[in-house]
Amino acid sequence: MPDNTLRAHDEVFWRTFADRYDSHPGPVNLENGYFGRMSRTVVDEYQRNIELINNSNSVYVRQRFEQSDNLDIRAQLAELIGVRAQSVAFTANASAGLQSLIRNYNRLQPGDQVLISDLEYDTVKGAMRWLARHRGVEVIEIDHAHPATFDSLVATYREAFIRHPKLKLMALTHVTHRTGLVMPVQAIATQAKAHGIDVILDGAHALGQIEFDLEALGIAFAGYNLHKWIGSPLTLGFLYIAPQRLADIDPDMGEMHYPVNDIRSRTPYSTPNIPALMTLPLVFEEHRALGGAAAKGARLNYLRNLWVKAVRNLPGIEVMTPDDPRLYCGITSMRFTRHDDQQLMVERLLSDYNLFTVVRTGAACGPCIRITPGLTTMADDMQCLVRALNELR
Ligand SMILES: Cc1ncc(COP(=O)(O)O)c(C=O)c1O
Repeated sequence: MPDNTLRAHDEVFWRTFADRYDSHPGPVNLENGYFGRMSRTVVDEYQRNIELINNSNSVYVRQRFEQSDNLDIRAQLAELIGVRAQSVAFTANASAGLQSLIRNYNRLQPGDQVLISDLEYDTVKGAMRWLARHRGVEVIEIDHAHPATFDSLVATYREAFIRHPKLKLMALTHVTHRTGLVMPVQAIATQAKAHGIDVILDGAHALGQIEFDLEALGIAFAGYNLHKWIGSPLTLGFLYIAPQRLADIDPDMGEMHYPVNDIRSRTPYSTPNIPALMTLPLVFEEHRALGGAAAKGARLNYLRNLWVKAVRNLPGIEVMTPDDPRLYCGITSMRFTRHDDQQLMVERLLSDYNLFTVVRTGAACGPCIRITPGLTTMADDMQCLVRALNELR
């Protein structure tokens, strides 16, 4: 496998890679954080699977898919992320998995405290606040210091753990969708463990663009999707529960299709997108063939640094995401400091420069414009962005 850092700079390689994807003519998409494109071969395979399931209907699904193929696909997923198959269950997306974990975590007593920060995804915030009404716990909400450093992030949590001794559970986002900040998950999880606090990790943006070892991170509960950076069809995700912690999550609302020692009982039983699941082996093969998260992450970081290095010190621009390599990935946010309305600037980026971006609000550090290159983004696209930012500031 070629050196990922070297190949990240190789426009000829990535141009050829981009040719494997179809796209409509239109603006340059710098909002690849929503979901990823499937390659043409994956689209073809997905379409074949739709036809196969439509034609064979429940005969194949009842006889083969439910009995064995589904389990084989789960085993392949588990192998990809380096965990045991019994510790993962498919869901429709990351939100569904995270909500199941939060809803069914059974170690809370009335009067306990749970923790969220300003950088959590809104669905996760909502689910943690739901616990207040339904479990009688208090929700502690903290804001992260800006600009963030590795030490400030860990210290913010350490101080919260000391200040709120009744904390039992916290949500943590590996890569925040607001600014792309990468959380020092392992260091925070270690502190949390020392204070007897469980962590539910939101890995929606991390899987496929950041290399990590889930077990080494010290995380017992996590939710992911496969449609952002792995390259699957939409509607696929999974939850992870460390096998020794399965009993701490109840079967989902009395779910009884699977035995209580089967992690699949921790998700709502329903008819999944079977053709999409059947497409996963090819998706995993393509992810691996490219070099996995290491190769994808190196390319995305390279594209990110092309624009960040060019504008970081320009008056009128604030890049919100730090340059500590432990704390950033391909997603990075900025704002125009001399303009009040960042949404208006997103509209100018589109109308005047044909660049598609998105505003993100809700972080304590204020509204920002999120820039997310994708695997088919080219270095020239980032140069257009640099010119646009320079002129618009
Ligand atoms: C940080 C984060 N968490 C959770 C989600 C939800 O993921 P899904 O759409 O798979 O439910 C997203 C989606 O963008 C996200 O950015």
